[in-house]
Amino acid sequence: MAISSTKVIPSTSAIPEHVAIIMDGNGRWASQRFLPRTAGHAKGVQSVRSAVETCGNAGVRYLTLFAFSSENWRRPADEVSLLMRLFVQALEREVSRLQDQGVRLRVVGDLSPFEPKLQELILQAQDSTSQNDALHLTIAANYGGRWDILQATRRMLVAHPELAAHPDQLDEQQLSSYLSMSWAPEPDLFIRTGGEQRISNFLIWQLAYTELFFTECYWPDFGSAELHQAFEWYSTRERRFGRTSAQVHGLAKT
Ligand code: IPE
Ligand code: IPE
Ligand code: MG
Repeated sequence: MAISSTKVIPSTSAIPEHVAIIMDGNGRWASQRFLPRTAGHAKGVQSVRSAVETCGNAGVRYLTLFAFSSENWRRPADEVSLLMRLFVQALEREVSRLQDQGVRLRVVGDLSPFEPKLQELILQAQDSTSQNDALHLTIAANYGGRWDILQATRRMLVAHPELAAHPDQLDEQQLSSYLSMSWAPEPDLFIRTGGEQRISNFLIWQLAYTELFFTECYWPDFGSAELHQAFEWYSTRERRFGRTSAQVHGLAKT
């Protein structure tokens, strides 16, 4: 029998321990108001602030936000550079607020194409918040789920070259320990704003058993009340991880 990394069933509670969000709909939010798409991205920063605060207050331990996908380089150059500027600005302005809130910041993704100043700010922000533990905030930037699985496989083979000759010794647990968010539990709740119902190459490995919540609400309009609605929906889900409902409720043999 194949050993599944979901064999160990995580304990679940009413409030998700790990929330992962695809922050989508900034461009449409702006177009609706006859504003440039970039105005939607600027407004979206406020929703990031609100999500961090709401999650912190609600007792969420891990919040992961998709800020820029490995496919977003395909966008017009001026939109990409505005997004990079906003990222730099957010790191310059928001880190002290994160400190006050006890938030530990990490950035995951292939950071090598970013300009040196942005890379430096990311390292500084990660370093200066590394002792915080109230909320673990992860920003996925130039991130792709397929990239993540590939980089994990490469790093694992470098560390364990013997696996190439004995692939049967490899299990899910070992490979997943090389994924870029190996230190976090898998997301309990996934939220995508903006109406699309797809994963868009986000945490494809880690979302295997995540509850998926899709909302039409555009990201700049997604505030604390909307986030609480998602928590409310999550609390009504029955997470079976392959078991029957009776087993989940302890009414049948385990
Ligand atoms: C999400 O909003 C932000 C990023 C992808 C960086 P979009 O910019 O994708 O907004 P829509 O989907 O075009 O409305
Ligand atoms: C996904 O949104 C990426 C981020 C929110 C950063 P996109 O708007 O780029 O996704 P697609 O292209 O519509 O799938
Ligand atoms: Mg979009």
